[in-house]
Amino acid sequence: MAAQPEGQSNTGFWRVLDERLGLSGLAYPVPEHANTLPYFLGGITLAGFVILVATGVLLAQFYHPHPANAHDSVIYIVTEAPFGDFIRSLHFWAANLVVITAVLHLIRVFVSGSFKRPREVNWLVGLSLLGLTLGFVFTGTVLKWDQESVEALAHNREIGELLGSFGTWFTNEFTRSVPLLTRLYLGHVSLLPVLLILLVLFHLYLIKLHGISPKATVDATSGPPTAEKGSSRFITHLRRLIGYGFLLLSVDGALALLLPAPLGQAGVPGAEVTKPPWMFLPLYPLEDVLGIRGLLLGSIVLFGLLALVPFVDRSRWLSPRRRRWIIIAGGILLVLLIILAVFAWLSRPAAHLME
Ligand code: HEM
Repeated sequence: MAAQPEGQSNTGFWRVLDERLGLSGLAYPVPEHANTLPYFLGGITLAGFVILVATGVLLAQFYHPHPANAHDSVIYIVTEAPFGDFIRSLHFWAANLVVITAVLHLIRVFVSGSFKRPREVNWLVGLSLLGLTLGFVFTGTVLKWDQESVEALAHNREIGELLGSFGTWFTNEFTRSVPLLTRLYLGHVSLLPVLLILLVLFHLYLIKLHGISPKATVDATSGPPTAEKGSSRFITHLRRLIGYGFLLLSVDGALALLLPAPLGQAGVPGAEVTKPPWMFLPLYPLEDVLGIRGLLLGSIVLFGLLALVPFVDRSRWLSPRRRRWIIIAGGILLVLLIILAVFAWLSRPAAHLME
C-alpha cells in the first residue's frame, strides 16, 4: 500500500483512494507556521485560477472571438445566456482577486526571505506566473471588444511594432487570415493556460522538493531544509486551503452580485478616451512622459528589479529585521507604484497612440 501522508489516519475512503492513486506521494512537509493566512496566499491564488477556468469554460460556450461579433456575443452573454451576467461577473472579479492575492503572496515571500537559497529559481518561476497572470488580464480585457478593449488592442499592436521582429505575433502583420482579436483569444484560452499549468506544476514541484521555508524568526537562516520538517499534517493544510478557496468563492460571488462586470459601448478605433485596468495604472503616467515605449520600459524595469531580488539580498538571514535595507527598498518601490497608480487614476485619459 502507498504511504500515508504525514499523520494521516489509516481510514476508509482515503486509504482506498490512496492505494489506487498514490495521492500521499504529493504531500509535502508542512511546518505549523505554514497554516497561517500569509502562507496560504499562493494556494488561494491557485483556488482563484480554478474559479477562472470553470467560469471561463462556461463563457467560451457563448463568446464569439471575431471583431464583427465579439461585442454582440458579450451582450448576448449578459442578457440571454443562462446565468451569463453572473458567470461573467464571477470571472471578472476572480481575475481581480487573483492579481491581488498573487501580489500579496509575492510580498509575503519577499518579507519572509523565502526566495533565498535554495528557493531562488522558484522566485523566478513565481515572477513568470505573475507575468502570465497579467497577460491573462490584458488579453481578457481585449475580448469584450468595447472601447477599453479596442484601445488596449491598439497598445498591444504598437508595443508589438516596437519589439520589431520579436513582436510581429502581436500585430496584424503576422497573418491576414486570422484577426488579431481571434489570435489573442486563442492566447487567452490555450497558450497562456498551457504555460500557466506547466509553470504552476514546476512551482509546486519545487515547493515539494524544498519544503516550505522556515519561519522568519530573528535567528532563522536560509539553506537546505532542516528541523522545520512537517510538524503539521498535510491533510490539515489541504483542508484549510479548501476552506480559504470557498471563502474566496464567497467574496467573488458577493462582488459579482453587487457589482456586475462593466461593459462599455462597442469600441471606436482611433479614439483614446479610456484608462487601463487598475493593475496597469502604475505604468500609465510613464506613457505620458515616454509614450508607448514607457509601458515597455516600465514593465522591463519593474520585473527586472524583482528578478534581481534573490541575487542582491544574499545574506543568510530571513528575518526582515536583519534585512532592513532591502525591506526599505521594496517598501519604496511599492509606495512609488501606488503613487503612480493614484496619479493615473486622478488624471484625465490622454492620447498616447502613434497611429
Ligand atoms: C501567480 C500565481 C502563483 C501561484 C498559483 C503560486 C502558488 C504558490 C503556492 C501554493 C505556494 C505554497 C506556499 C504559499 O502558499 O505561500 C507558493 C510558494 C512560493 N511561491 Fe508562489 N505562487 C504564485 C506566484 C508567485 C510569485 C509572484 C512569486 C514571487 C515572485 C512566488 C514565489 C514563491 C516562492 C519563493 C514560494 C516558496 C515559499 C516558501 O517556501 O515559503 N509565487 N506559491
